[in-house]
Amino acid sequence: MRLVDMQGRIAACSDAYCALTGLQREALIGQNLTVVYHPDAREQMLQIFKKGLQGGTLPEAEQLKMRLWDGRTIWLDIRHTHFATKDSEPYLWSSFRDISKIKQAQKIRRENEKRLRLLFEQAGDAIFLTPFNTDSRPGAIIEANDSACRRLLFSKDEISKLTPYTIIPAKFYEKLNLALKKLRSESTAVFQLQLMRKDKRSIPVEINIRRFTLDEQEMIVWIIRDITQRKQVEKRLKETSNQLRDLASRIQTVREEERTMIAREIHDELGQVLTVLKIQLSLTANKLLPEQQEVKERLQSTFGLLDSAVEAVQQISAKLRPGILDELGLAAAVEWQAQDFEKHTGIHCKCSLPSEPVALPAEKSTAVFRIFQEALTNAARHADADRVSIFLKDRMDKLVLEIIDNGCGINKTQINSPKSLGILGMRERVVVLGGSMEINGVPGKGTHIKVTMPRQ
Ligand SMILES: Nc1ncnc2c1ncn2[C@@H]1O[C@H](COP(=O)(O)OP(=O)(O)OP(=O)(O)O)[C@@H](O)[C@H]1O
Ligand SMILES: [Mg+2]
Repeated sequence: MRLVDMQGRIAACSDAYCALTGLQREALIGQNLTVVYHPDAREQMLQIFKKGLQGGTLPEAEQLKMRLWDGRTIWLDIRHTHFATKDSEPYLWSSFRDISKIKQAQKIRRENEKRLRLLFEQAGDAIFLTPFNTDSRPGAIIEANDSACRRLLFSKDEISKLTPYTIIPAKFYEKLNLALKKLRSESTAVFQLQLMRKDKRSIPVEINIRRFTLDEQEMIVWIIRDITQRKQVEKRLKETSNQLRDLASRIQTVREEERTMIAREIHDELGQVLTVLKIQLSLTANKLLPEQQEVKERLQSTFGLLDSAVEAVQQISAKLRPGILDELGLAAAVEWQAQDFEKHTGIHCKCSLPSEPVALPAEKSTAVFRIFQEALTNAARHADADRVSIFLKDRMDKLVLEIIDNGCGINKTQINSPKSLGILGMRERVVVLGGSMEINGVPGKGTHIKVTMPRQ
């Protein structure tokens, strides 16, 4: 508090005023009021107080930034009033309050707000705010950033008249409502849909909504990312992988056809020639005279060689494509393959097969059979098993094949490894035909493969 006379001399002041100015009372009393200010600021300060000193009214309260005599700059909240007793001249009474700290805080807040606004406006994602009403529906957009306007082609004015329901096509309301329900319970939700721009074109977006409270009103911040490009890449990737799958499937078919053809040619053509050869040789042998014993013996060993050749032909052709699969069907082929496997590896095989022949299109039978062969090969190569159980189940709508070994058990890494091409091939073979394959391993217990092939 400070009292100055009409000449501008300080007549009285409080301790707080002394503390504020950093001057002793003796240095203040009787001095011109400008004594507390920096020499450069004195004239300006005098002008401010002049009107009051001349009896005029000063603003009742004002906030001024002042430079003090010692160079300090402070913000003051000043209140003035004229004060006079009956027999004294009037005085100007002023109170001063240091509000530098408040001003500093206000400045920081303003700068922060500016920064946040910049962040909000400059964000690549479209962002807007809506109230979150008690019925769990969003209200009208109350704030939107530049990106939101730019992407949706609305002006700021136009966008603030909209609600999310006006820019989201009705077919996505169910998805939106589900996300809003989640938002109610979990404070945040992410979902994908399409937004309708002002020109009625749709853009695919990923929306991230968050719930928060502002001045006791529940609000939602909507962060919207344009995923047009991501969707295009996803589409291209899907197309490419579909093409690759088709190609792989086509290669399998061609390979299978070739194998069948070669197996048949070897079996029929070569087999027949060998048989005829054997008959002719045997006729010739019958015609030999008793004294041609040596030739007869040589022919006998040739017969042995011919028998081995016939057997080799049969084995090679069965390996290429077991005729039994085409002639007697899948169940018979599985049984034959299991016996052959047991004979060659010593791993005991137990088959449980349907009593009736399995009726399945050739393409599907072949796929299941080839998967079965790969599973047996794997059991022999990797499992260290001594027993394999095979279940072939013929259901109304599907065929199920299970192969269970009692080996070391495959693990998740081996199943999912991009290097496990055998397993990938097995899976692809069923998937392209609409089926599925599950593979599970238990360490030390074994591996269980289940192939499901739908009839349709
Ligand atoms: N029955 C099984 N028991 C234990 N581990 C297995 C079994 N089957 C597969 N594995 C493991 O999974 C891996 C991948 O099998 P996959 O058939 O894909 O490839 P591979 O047999 O090593 O080679 P490929 O089949 O291409 O000749 C194997 O290397 C093996 O480690
Ligand atoms: Mg393999």
